[in-house]
Amino acid sequence: MGSYSISSLPDYFKQYRKSIKNPKKFWNRIATENFEWYQHWNKVVEFDMEEAKITWFKNAKLNITKNCIDRHLATRGNKTAIIWEPNDPKEKSQHITYNELHGRVCKMANVLTDLGIQKGDRVCIYLPMIPELAITMLACAKMGAVHSVIFAGFSASAVASRVNDCGAKLIITSDGSYRGNKVLELKPIVDEAVEKCSSVEKVLVVKRTGGKITLKKNRDVILDDYYPKASKDFVTKIMDAEDPFFILYTSGSTGRPKGMLHTCAGYMVYVAYTFKNIFNYEENDIFWCSADIGWITGHSYTLYGPLLNGATTVMYEGTPTHPAPDRFWKIIEKHKINQFYTAPTAIRALAKENYEWVKKRNLSSLKVIGSVGEPINDEAWHWYNDHVGKRKCPIVDTWWQTETGGILISPIPFVTPTKPTYATLPLPGIQPVLMDEKRNEIMGNQAEGNLCIRFPWPSIARTIWGDHQRYKETYFTAFPGKYFTGDGALRDEVGYYRITGRVDDVVIVSGHNLGTAPIEDSINLHPAIAESAVVGYPHDVKGNALYGFVILKEMGESRDKKNLEKEINQVIAETIGPIAKLDKIQFVPGLPKTRSGKIMRRILRKIASGDFDNFGDTSTLLNPEIVEEIKNARIEN
Ligand code: PRX
Repeated sequence: MGSYSISSLPDYFKQYRKSIKNPKKFWNRIATENFEWYQHWNKVVEFDMEEAKITWFKNAKLNITKNCIDRHLATRGNKTAIIWEPNDPKEKSQHITYNELHGRVCKMANVLTDLGIQKGDRVCIYLPMIPELAITMLACAKMGAVHSVIFAGFSASAVASRVNDCGAKLIITSDGSYRGNKVLELKPIVDEAVEKCSSVEKVLVVKRTGGKITLKKNRDVILDDYYPKASKDFVTKIMDAEDPFFILYTSGSTGRPKGMLHTCAGYMVYVAYTFKNIFNYEENDIFWCSADIGWITGHSYTLYGPLLNGATTVMYEGTPTHPAPDRFWKIIEKHKINQFYTAPTAIRALAKENYEWVKKRNLSSLKVIGSVGEPINDEAWHWYNDHVGKRKCPIVDTWWQTETGGILISPIPFVTPTKPTYATLPLPGIQPVLMDEKRNEIMGNQAEGNLCIRFPWPSIARTIWGDHQRYKETYFTAFPGKYFTGDGALRDEVGYYRITGRVDDVVIVSGHNLGTAPIEDSINLHPAIAESAVVGYPHDVKGNALYGFVILKEMGESRDKKNLEKEINQVIAETIGPIAKLDKIQFVPGLPKTRSGKIMRRILRKIASGDFDNFGDTSTLLNPEIVEEIKNARIEN
């Protein structure tokens, strides 16, 4: 294997310059030196941004599992590939070596073949965070089947809409899953979903909880009936660079989920390259990304990125606070984790707990800590830095999307100086640009605008499954010739980027453009406040006014609410300006969140404006019951 590390700031600047001046040469070298191919490409990149047609490594032949597993066997066969940590701390963790992983993936590929799956078929995976989740994904990859993982918390209707959209022949699920103190039954959800899915021929069931399940004749099969007899030999399918690799659904501005399609070669090259550099991974490190594999973060940085680098990656089945709020810190201590990657929402939730929980645990193995999925506010950044990283671990605030496949903007640890709340600089090959409302590029630093990317990178999603027109319209028409991220960003005086949030979360108040994210940051500075969400609602005089939904910390519960409201507005006035003060403040016990922890602002906007009709599908929320509670306590005037 060649080297693709970025070693210093001058080295980063040099590599970045090269990658922009001659992207073909840059990616050609990385792809040639660091991966095994059955056949070399005859063109590095070809694209038409108007038509949204992008090809990387044209006509190359490969299989990602050769690069994730097979090529490591000679030198790392007995190295642990996956550490699996169960929900119950008393249950034994599994340490799966590369040799074992190879055997288990081949056996699984044989089971799937016996069930009629062939190259190009779509397979939906609806499993909890158990080793079989990783193994079935890798088995699909090995045989050229297209996996579509559906987070095992989605409702039957959400499962059905995804299965129908991709026309899956097979669903893999389990009897149930363990999450904290709860046992969730998954098989009945799949049963209900499949009633509405005519493409599904088989349902494969993994046993995890031992719960009672009913099996439908000629459709349902138990993995244990096939797996022990399956052969450990499997002939890997040779894939074309642009063959479909996986589909992953993400929410869009309409109710219909978007099946983002990633293809084989470009995804592999970019994810491997970014994993190595952004987490500063060294041979014997233990890496843990706490994201569920049902999200892109889990695909790219729990599974594929680490394995492509021959790393040891941790998969955790449970919740951050089970059985106590120190579980994350205990896992770091137990497995001597070197890189820890999580979401700001988890950081804020854990920061709300007594500081003793984190102080008691030995976190000295940590070298790099990361954040992903939403802007990390100043308070959470500092808490993470002080109490988890102990001010010696760089925080990598990584900005990217399901659509981008891999991280596009992030500090490189020990190379890029970090700056609280800033994702900082683009990775080599990534050309961010800021665009104004008139579609003009904003030049120079100290600027703010719509974040677009000028040139395609290897792991950009190639299309929306079955709807290329929607792909083109969503990402390539607002700013012709560029990929539009849907995010706003600012660029500081040295060129560092800070993501300010979705541009659709901007509210115009009395003609002033206000981002809701900075207002929330400012509210969260108040010591009695745990979290907040600000949305706009129609106002007679100002056009729009601001409505804040605020969660108090325990210490805030006993405070006089009128006083607290005054203080919140004072903090806003002092950090942003009086124009950003809230017109209405509602103290709430929780906020409606998606399973990945994102606040569902669409619902809050409707509540704030008194429009209680048609909240859309709330079954995909983590806490659907909160909607009614917030609605009932809405502030009228
Ligand atoms: O708004 C940005 C936010 O999450 C969006 C992408 O969401 P999703 O496709 O679910 O992928 C999440 C995991 C990559 C982006 O458009 N986002 C993601 N990372 C950051 C972020 N916002 C600010 N800072 C980040 N580091």
